Amino acid sequence: MNADHWSSHPDLGEVVVAEKDLQRRVEELGAQITADYQGRPPLLVGVLKGAFVFMSDLARAIALPVEIDVMAVASYGSGTTTSGVVRIVKDLDSDLAGRHVLVVEDIVDSGLTLSYLRRGLLARQPASLEVCALLVKESRQRAPLDLRYTGFHIPPDFVVGYGLDVAERYRNLPDIRVYRGPVPVE
Ligand code: IMP
Ligand code: MG
Repeated sequence: MNADHWSSHPDLGEVVVAEKDLQRRVEELGAQITADYQGRPPLLVGVLKGAFVFMSDLARAIALPVEIDVMAVASYGSGTTTSGVVRIVKDLDSDLAGRHVLVVEDIVDSGLTLSYLRRGLLARQPASLEVCALLVKESRQRAPLDLRYTGFHIPPDFVVGYGLDVAERYRNLPDIRVYRGPVPVE
């Protein structure tokens, strides 16, 4: 399925980050992480479901024997905003004590999900804890971010694609696009 197919979809607006720009930036982040973590390969912690596409590309762009784990969180709130109340739906398999943990996030909007996650993971005594977020929405943060790695800063529109969904749809778009369809009721 190519990108043109999706352009004619009525619920989808303009491309915010194109596939080739995603690929180029993921390569750069991978190279930077490879350099920064020489001699101490990180445990990548992907935050499901949104990070699954980004993490699979990023992991292959890192030339170190990384380990991979995933956790799933659900935030209560309406279809397109977060309340900041986060529930762990699937916890990690790994013990984080003494590990160099690199959290891989799809998008940071208010920052509330991330700040909750960071507190919870730090309590498990990792040797280090850093965050790599593909997207950060401009001027939306209500919690301090402290992101070690960021892919792109984007305007505060609701976006889908490259792992990001609305009501579980559009995670498989190759680009990141503005969502212009109806807001789903939860
Ligand atoms: P925060 O807690 O407000 O930073 O929200 C972060 C979470 O909300 C992300 O991990 C996403 O799952 C979801 N989210 C925020 N903005 C978007 C968006 O534009 N598209 C899809 N999901 C989003
Ligand atoms: Mg989501």
